[in-house]
Amino acid sequence: MRVPILAANWKMHKTVAEALAFVEAFLPSVRDVEGVEIVIAPPFTALDRVGEALGGSNVELAAQDVHAELFGAFTGEVSATMLSDVGCRYGIVGHSERRTLCGETDAEVGAKATTLLRNGIRPIFCVGESLDEREAGRAFDRVGEQLDKGLAKIPSEQAEELVVAYEPIWAIGTGRTASPQDAQEMHAFIRDCLARRFASAASSIRIQYGGSVKPDNVYALMAQPDIDGALVGGASLDPESFARIVRFAPPEESK
Ligand code: PGA
Repeated sequence: MRVPILAANWKMHKTVAEALAFVEAFLPSVRDVEGVEIVIAPPFTALDRVGEALGGSNVELAAQDVHAELFGAFTGEVSATMLSDVGCRYGIVGHSERRTLCGETDAEVGAKATTLLRNGIRPIFCVGESLDEREAGRAFDRVGEQLDKGLAKIPSEQAEELVVAYEPIWAIGTGRTASPQDAQEMHAFIRDCLARRFASAASSIRIQYGGSVKPDNVYALMAQPDIDGALVGGASLDPESFARIVRFAPPEESK
């Protein structure tokens, strides 16, 4: 049984005060939610205080990135030990914005995932194709390549700790979502790739969908057999909207 995992990726949004105000409004509204994992990834500056505010609740803390090395002369970077020090249970790696804007390679993303696992933090490993790749019929090849190169050094014994997030780049922040059927097709493909690498552990790995997930479309996505959660950007910035997403009720019941 895969426990659904709904994660908020706040990207470069919210001061510490804004982040704490979100938590104060959000926690009471999800206190009764059971059987799902809820995760929030604030910016680095708010991790410590948000972690404290989440203490003892049913919401877990995540980082948006990590450096592959544990310490050293890497100005501006943050290590896995530092993230575990402030209570991170999850860490996003390989988000398409980092791959595109910061030039992160598949191998670098893989090294980050490995470092997280070694330090007791579960990676949320992002993959996804660009619009050009999809239109050229290369979406499956590209996602397969990201998985092959990025997961090459993940030990099979730890595979179940992984979360994979499929985020088609053309759906991120655009209001354009993959149809539940198209997303399911890619998720099934991802699970096949995971099964080739990790054998039976693949059936326990959660695969999230990301890209313009909203309270009104999350139910149909979550109804797909291989969609085990969502990684949510814009619609996670508002406590009421993210609370509706973590409940993923049919749209008519979620108002
Ligand atoms: P979005 O972002 O929900 O704003 O499309 C998703 C993500 O980039 O993780």
